[in-house]
Amino acid sequence: MRLIQHKKEAYWFYRYLSIFYDKLVNPLFWTKRMRDEALELGQLEQDGLKIIDVGSGTGFTTEGIVRLASAERVTCVDQSPHQMAKAKKKAVLQGCTFQLGDAENIPFGTDEFDRYVSAGSIEYWPNPQQGINEAYRVVKPGGIALMIGPLEPENAIARFMANTWMLFPKEEEYMHWFREAGFQDIRVRYVKPHWVTGRGEYGIAISGVKPRAGLPPAAAPAPAGDAEEKMTAGRWLQLAGRVLIGSLAGFVFIPAALFGYLRRAFNGQQEVPEEYRERLNGYQVTALAVIVLIIGLAIYLI
Ligand SMILES: C[S@@+](CC[C@H](N)C(=O)[O-])C[C@H]1O[C@@H](n2cnc3c(N)ncnc32)[C@H](O)[C@@H]1O
Repeated sequence: MRLIQHKKEAYWFYRYLSIFYDKLVNPLFWTKRMRDEALELGQLEQDGLKIIDVGSGTGFTTEGIVRLASAERVTCVDQSPHQMAKAKKKAVLQGCTFQLGDAENIPFGTDEFDRYVSAGSIEYWPNPQQGINEAYRVVKPGGIALMIGPLEPENAIARFMANTWMLFPKEEEYMHWFREAGFQDIRVRYVKPHWVTGRGEYGIAISGVKPRAGLPPAAAPAPAGDAEEKMTAGRWLQLAGRVLIGSLAGFVFIPAALFGYLRRAFNGQQEVPEEYRERLNGYQVTALAVIVLIIGLAIYLI
């Protein structure tokens, strides 16, 4: 179903999620350790690289990028003004350029950037091949594109909820999209938060090198944006339903992550440097307490 894998649905999803995205949701699923490990594949440390971060959101991954590169050389693109407004307020991102735009139709020229980074955004793109073709297009020859995204869960219930929510591609799909776009020297790394202990991989970072200047070898013209989609009363109703049910399917992962943290609270991180230890913050502890209270109340009333 992938209810939120649509530009309009993703826009409205982030219209409200941006309010508590940085405090409650993002740190459960996309941690500093995962981010910095994944960014290594992008080879961002060289001086003077011009970098584009697509689907940059509130700037969590951009914060990792500017640890390695000058903020003045970093351009952030996202379709959500609400997410971008949060990023713009962050002190470390003050030098960055911010541009509203679509990952599947990036508002920049061909062969313009040394590096392309996109983290946790492909899940919402209706046409992921088009988005990866765009990654190829905007990167200079010899430049690297790095895509970070989730993998389809192995557990059947988690897979059902994930696929109801949005796109959780298989590793072969990422590989196929990168090859089709024309990337070479494709490399992969897996990332997961410490509370995920089940079978299978959780998230993937995949990078590729653009071998020559210009458009992807088999590129189709960029499709017209959803901005032109005609919004009838029926479509608004459908959109509201999709955002509501898609959000509910996604939110199932929040208590799962909170309880996962609790389960692993006292082990598994002794070797991890202090700055990378994954702990619940005050907002998450409050959310956990509320969930426990609701479950307790429900059991009492039954
Ligand atoms: C999970 S957030 C990731 C944000 C950020 N990269 C991070 O690491 O925290 C996904 C972001 O992708 C953006 N997004 C979704 N579809 C998009 C599209 N078609 N074009 C540009 N941005 C998009 C959303 O607005 C949202 O900010």
